[in-house]
Amino acid sequence: MKHKILVTSALPYANGLFHLGHMVEFIQTDLFVRYLRLKGKDVIYCCADDTHGTPIELKARELNITPEKLIEQFYHEHLKDLKQFNISYDNYYSTNSHENKAFSEYVFTKAKEKGHIYQKEVEQLYCNTCRRFLPDRFIKGTCPKCKAEDQYGDVCESCSTSYRTTDIINPYCSICKSKEAKLELKKSLHYFFKLQDFKNKLNKYLVTSNFQQQVVNFLINWLDNLEDWCISRDGPYFGFKIPGETDKYFYVWLDAPIGYIASTANYCQNNKLDVYDYWKQETTEIIHFIGKDIIYFHFLFWPALLMCADFSLPKQIRVHGFLTINGEKMSKSRGTFITARKYLEHLHPEFLRFYVASNLTSAVEDINLDMQDFKDKINNELIANIGNFCYRTISFVNNNFDGELSTIGASYNELNYKAEIEKKIELIDKHYEKGDSREVIKEILAISTLGNKYVQDCQPWQLIKGDKQEKEKTQQVMTFAIVILKNLSILMQPILPEAAAQLQHQINLESLSWNHLDFSIHAKKINKGEPLFKKLEDEPAALIPKKLPFEIRVVQIKEVQQHPNADRLYHLKVDIGTEQSAAQQQEHQQIQLRELVAGLKEHYTPEQLINKKVLMLCNLEPADIRGIKSNGMILVTAKGKKIKLIEVADHKLGELVYTDHKENSFAQLSYNDFKKIKFVTKNKHILYEDKPLKTDSGIINHDFEDNGIVQ
Ligand code: MSP
Ligand code: ZN
Repeated sequence: MKHKILVTSALPYANGLFHLGHMVEFIQTDLFVRYLRLKGKDVIYCCADDTHGTPIELKARELNITPEKLIEQFYHEHLKDLKQFNISYDNYYSTNSHENKAFSEYVFTKAKEKGHIYQKEVEQLYCNTCRRFLPDRFIKGTCPKCKAEDQYGDVCESCSTSYRTTDIINPYCSICKSKEAKLELKKSLHYFFKLQDFKNKLNKYLVTSNFQQQVVNFLINWLDNLEDWCISRDGPYFGFKIPGETDKYFYVWLDAPIGYIASTANYCQNNKLDVYDYWKQETTEIIHFIGKDIIYFHFLFWPALLMCADFSLPKQIRVHGFLTINGEKMSKSRGTFITARKYLEHLHPEFLRFYVASNLTSAVEDINLDMQDFKDKINNELIANIGNFCYRTISFVNNNFDGELSTIGASYNELNYKAEIEKKIELIDKHYEKGDSREVIKEILAISTLGNKYVQDCQPWQLIKGDKQEKEKTQQVMTFAIVILKNLSILMQPILPEAAAQLQHQINLESLSWNHLDFSIHAKKINKGEPLFKKLEDEPAALIPKKLPFEIRVVQIKEVQQHPNADRLYHLKVDIGTEQSAAQQQEHQQIQLRELVAGLKEHYTPEQLINKKVLMLCNLEPADIRGIKSNGMILVTAKGKKIKLIEVADHKLGELVYTDHKENSFAQLSYNDFKKIKFVTKNKHILYEDKPLKTDSGIINHDFEDNGIVQ
């Protein structure tokens, strides 16, 4: 009998739509599961929404609905996205279920019986207005170390110091904004889980399992400082009440992973299976996929809880890195927080599956979404390589042989190609197994390239013009190419299930599995071909705003002097205001006048310049101009010989110029880089990528004729 496999993705919180980071994990899990199914394994894929905790309770309160209503709404939104991206889970459940309640109580009771849980009084800040204890994240105040205001109760984002919540200065409740007078330190009795008890067992588990080495290395370090874990929360809270308590609940991270078991149980119930075949059977493989931020919970707390209840431990926990956009964390204010929904408005779901797959390896590395790279991968690899090979081959067979296939040739040439492709298939198998989909895609592309090359070598478009024998030979060549397509359709199925199904339909085959990877073909006549994908014409700029390369600010000219060594140049000093560049803020530099050299003398007298508010390019590489260091460039609009200062009297000193979103860091620009940036004057505005330049004070109005440039 085949052993059972259970695969899971981490359970996403139920208080928001999925973003592309969530989709990375679902795609990674899904392609592994599809690969296992293709190989005929007995696998199920279970997941659920993680529905409990303070943020969900607060969000429901804010929307004036019950938490149950809130999680139900997001549950439906989540299912829609999963369907669109073709995530083939077997069960998608909720942690707010009777199964989960029962299993959570069971695990808790077992742990308690075995002496791994004790109670202890804890002092915590309590808000008398909200009438609730405040978790660290809900207290804000001034950092005791660097005195930065509005910092969280546990760690300062400004100086990165972590401290005890009770040490924060002028604490306030971030929910109702009540100040210190309304806050008091109050005692409450809490439940603690003695993680220490499991140190040796966890150590053994970590070193004997086949986990990613990177992950094991730093987990081993953590093992020396295991702290007891507080697993209870006071009401109001959305979660499961602790048995025997009136207003205490399990902390969300206790019942969340137990949700894996509950989702399995629910699936088993509906499919006449036994949940214990998955969670108590040593031969079963439990495989979790998680992101790098939740390693601690999954490799330490979770196995310890399972040990208490005598359940099976996960055989694999595969950790992936984070999705970044333009090289940075997704950010709402920079417009780079992309929901799955928003992506689907612009792009094909299988493009994301392909892009994610071509970036994922078995290491814990972040994946950067860069639109140019995305477009290149889709157009050059997916479409130009695989897509075109499919379409050209199928069209040729339809146009010349009315879709009829023959046998395949077995000359030296074909045998050679066959051997090469078989080697690659073996590699692909290994890479899929290891979760190295980047390598899978490389090899799939290599097979497609081989296919293209084979057809190129055989020159069927010449051969077809020959005699009967040559025509037959052509048909054999094309049949061989179709067999390569068959193999490609199977190999790409886990990554591109929809395209693979279309391709199989076009070559008149269906439901192929890994066993069908060979050099035979049973379809006698193929169907009409159609391109599998449409090329991406331009980058969907609306999806991810491009990073602005220029740091242009409102500055004020403070001093104008003749350049001592150049007749036509001025030596200027300008005030770039209080809104300084991030780099300067970091260095805690004082406001200083910037010095620069400007070629304005032929157009403006010193009197015409002094005290004017104008625009300056601040991130220009400093240059030595005839003995004076120039640190920026005053901008003008220009057309032919005409130039004009861009005066911005009604904008604030120091303000940043932008179009959609403000950046907070800029790399230095060379003068040549700057010349490549295209600004154009139109209708008294200055346009960059068709959008008017503006500051927080408004759009920049500038009286200059149309079609001028900025220099
Ligand atoms: N609810 C917990 C998990 C409980 S599992 C018993 C949670 N939820 S989450 O919604 O914040 O994240 C769900 C999964 O998405 C996690 O594995 C997390 O690492 C992953 N990701 C969240 N943001 C991500 C990126 N930007 N990139 C890739 N994965 C990311 O944590
Ligand atoms: Zn409050």
